[in-house]
Amino acid sequence: MARLVDGYGRVARKARISVTDRCNFRCSFCMPKEPVWLPQEEILSFEEITRVVRILASMGVSRVRLTGGEPLVRKGVDELVKSISSIPRVEGVSMTTNGFYLSIFAARLASAGLRSVTVSLHSLKPERFEEVVGFKGVFNRVMSGIKAALNAGLNVKINAVIIRGCNDDELVDFAELSRRTGITVRFIEFMPFDGERLWNYDKVVTAKEIIESLLESYELYQKPREAGSTAKYFGFRDTEVGEIGVISSMSDPFCSDCDRIRIKADGKVVPCLFSRDEYDLKPLLRNGASDQQIADFIKHAFKQKFSGVETLLMRNKMPSHVRPMHTVGG
Ligand code: 5AD
Ligand code: SF4
Repeated sequence: MARLVDGYGRVARKARISVTDRCNFRCSFCMPKEPVWLPQEEILSFEEITRVVRILASMGVSRVRLTGGEPLVRKGVDELVKSISSIPRVEGVSMTTNGFYLSIFAARLASAGLRSVTVSLHSLKPERFEEVVGFKGVFNRVMSGIKAALNAGLNVKINAVIIRGCNDDELVDFAELSRRTGITVRFIEFMPFDGERLWNYDKVVTAKEIIESLLESYELYQKPREAGSTAKYFGFRDTEVGEIGVISSMSDPFCSDCDRIRIKADGKVVPCLFSRDEYDLKPLLRNGASDQQIADFIKHAFKQKFSGVETLLMRNKMPSHVRPMHTVGG
């Protein structure tokens, strides 16, 4: 089947599949205080998700990331990992998780074929972390989850959303963690997808600021950027161990070679994170459409993909709140 290409010639190679909008944490930059969950019957079954991934793979999507909400709150996600990773042409399955359940599931996920996990860890100070995620007593459990993932042989990365006045004093602590463990730490610019619409640009710590601040403590060098990569990666000159990534979604977006397509837990195709446009696959999946009809629908949806936040910023327009992050999973 033909590849998925949008109106600007960008080709889809990676899919992010949200398997649930639910989460056991309540980070305010991602969730409203009182979230309203999707009704159970709206959520795609594992069979439906696997079918969609198989169709995407036939159109050239070779990397799949499972996200949420928190993917591990959905029962049996390791089974889903197994069926997705055995689809021919799917080269790698990864997961973005808050890490809470990794101490239980890491080994099972690894044997199901999961290649890597990205753990969202926004602070290394237990009290602050627990304040951010809204629950006490969870920091150590997430840290054990990270260890379990490493022990299971998974490739582990850490994501930290940096918010001015909240955790921007921890950059060096994160860098030290990376230098100690070899885990890549990626700093993400705060995007306007928070739960209570309190985002404003003043709270964004830009990738440039982050790197300049780290340069006061370390000699860094920039690595060549892989096409389609969301992050710019830096190594330390004095050691081979450790790596820093910055994701400059707001200050220097990377829309022009974006190679991602997203599917929400309820089967809506989201071609671009910064656009409200969604295309509902569920009626086709549930009304007997053929693989070809589903492929054509996805092709049509992806063809309309928004040029991106880059073009908004070029016109001096600030992107507005599109949807809270937990409904799409980043
Ligand atoms: N801005 C930037 N990143 C966010 N994430 C959640 N909400 C936001 C936001 N408003 C992060 C998650 C996860 C990744 C997919 O995006 O914590 O690590
Ligand atoms: Fe849950 Fe991740 Fe959102 Fe925090 S950022 S509420 S852990 S989905």
